[in-house]
Amino acid sequence: MPRTVSPGATDTGFRTVHNDDMADIRTTRLRLRRPDESDVDAIVDACQDPDIQRFTLIPVPYRRTDAEHFVRVVAAHPRSSVWTIRTLLDDTFVGVAGLRVADGVGTLGYWCAAPQRGRRYLGEAIAALVDHGFAVVGVDTIRWSALPDNVASARLAAALGFRYTGRRTETAHGLDEQVNTAELSRSDPREPCVWPKAVVGPNH
Ligand SMILES: CC(C)(COP(=O)(O)OP(=O)(O)OC[C@H]1O[C@@H](n2cnc3c(N)ncnc32)[C@H](O)[C@@H]1OP(=O)(O)O)[C@@H](O)C(=O)NCCC(=O)NCCS
Repeated sequence: MPRTVSPGATDTGFRTVHNDDMADIRTTRLRLRRPDESDVDAIVDACQDPDIQRFTLIPVPYRRTDAEHFVRVVAAHPRSSVWTIRTLLDDTFVGVAGLRVADGVGTLGYWCAAPQRGRRYLGEAIAALVDHGFAVVGVDTIRWSALPDNVASARLAAALGFRYTGRRTETAHGLDEQVNTAELSRSDPREPCVWPKAVVGPNH
């Protein structure tokens, strides 16, 4: 059953948010910007990946019309806060990230296209999105959650300083699921956090 880090599915696995300032975000290697038509092909390709289908709430099967709806409706909304991630070097498509905001709390969602994994691109992108959430959007806390066997996502969050906050039940597509949860507050140090080995694996 596909799911996502945040409840409330849209066509890329996480629903949108609140952000009137969609200025580009740049990191050492990456550019985050509002998704547009030029991303559709890459999003359709990437979302055929079994891990993205399993760990996020994208529609399955994922069709071109889903990506078109995402860029034309979801991402085009003035209060949207979803981002396409591309490399600065040659504009290679890397993935998508989003920050849903409610009551001063942000909830992260993200995925990386399979060919681009293993380069720590998403860690770099999410660190910048966290900065943006605190500094521009003005949230005080950012939450993360993932299925228990999503070790890569857990390691990414732990490396960014998210504190593990245990398991809880989340409802996705009408089904209750156990998820690991974590959060980062504005005043927390941005240093790698120790998480239970059962969550991040024995070698972490
Ligand atoms: C989660 C995701 C974005 C991580 O991207 P990535 O490029 O694989 O991440 P990195 O290369 O930076 O690796 C992150 C960490 O996970 C580890 N890792 C990567 N793949 C792993 C795997 N299959 N099993 C265990 N650990 C793994 C890496 O070693 C690294 O840990 P380290 O920093 O302690 O060395 C990517 O795997 C993805 O898009 N997965 C599918 C969608 C998804 O899960 N989205 C998040 C939902 S919560």
